[in-house]
Amino acid sequence: MFIAIDGIDGSGKTTLARQLAELFTGKKTEVFLTKEPTDYSKWGQRLRRASIEGRLPANVELEYFRQDRQNHIEHHIKPALAAGAIVISDRYVDSTLAFQSNTSDEAETLYQSMVDEILIPDLTFIIDCPVDIGLRRINIRDNGNLSQFEKRETLERAEAIYEARKGENYVHLDGSKNIEDTFIQAIETLRHKFDDNPRFRGLLSGVVNIKDMPLITPRFAAG
Ligand code: TYD
Repeated sequence: MFIAIDGIDGSGKTTLARQLAELFTGKKTEVFLTKEPTDYSKWGQRLRRASIEGRLPANVELEYFRQDRQNHIEHHIKPALAAGAIVISDRYVDSTLAFQSNTSDEAETLYQSMVDEILIPDLTFIIDCPVDIGLRRINIRDNGNLSQFEKRETLERAEAIYEARKGENYVHLDGSKNIEDTFIQAIETLRHKFDDNPRFRGLLSGVVNIKDMPLITPRFAAG
């Protein structure tokens, strides 16, 4: 099972990824919690530096995200899935669509050009979140130190592209409320999806009521 979680900065995706990973851990399955850009490749490391020091030229940036993702898929995601793990990726291909294109039409063209090189997730959660709310959360989290990707115009464009993403494996969550609410929506989706799959249904056992969830305390900053 490969789950991708995407959305603008401050939408709550990092928190959701960690909450789900924590929920699944110890339930007779391995969980591989991962993120993009990765720390595993020279491309990912360069992109992380760029988010602090200044973005790379657009064509270079796109190429680096693609290379980093190829490495991620071949050397990390596929082996983890082959070993039976549940893979949860905090950002994946939809980040490239949202941040390396300008409109949702452009994003769709870019997606078509990449679809053969990626591994399509079993489920992609897109957390929809107004830019004001996302910016407020990252301002609090990072003390006003916004990265080179976290400029209002960039996030406005990205959010519009995220909201327009559609597809069989896509599920949009409303990230405008609070972290607990996003988690409840994700659990409801998984419950529905796992309904006829005993192995995965077991992963949600114990979550009778959200109040029973010990991990609901937001120990992690919204991401
Ligand atoms: P991220 O790891 O989310 O930053 P942080 O660790 O500070 O939370 O990613 C850095 C930025 O990279 C993020 O703002 C969005 C951008 N990004 C792209 O532009 N394209 C991509 O394909 C990916 C994966 C990320």
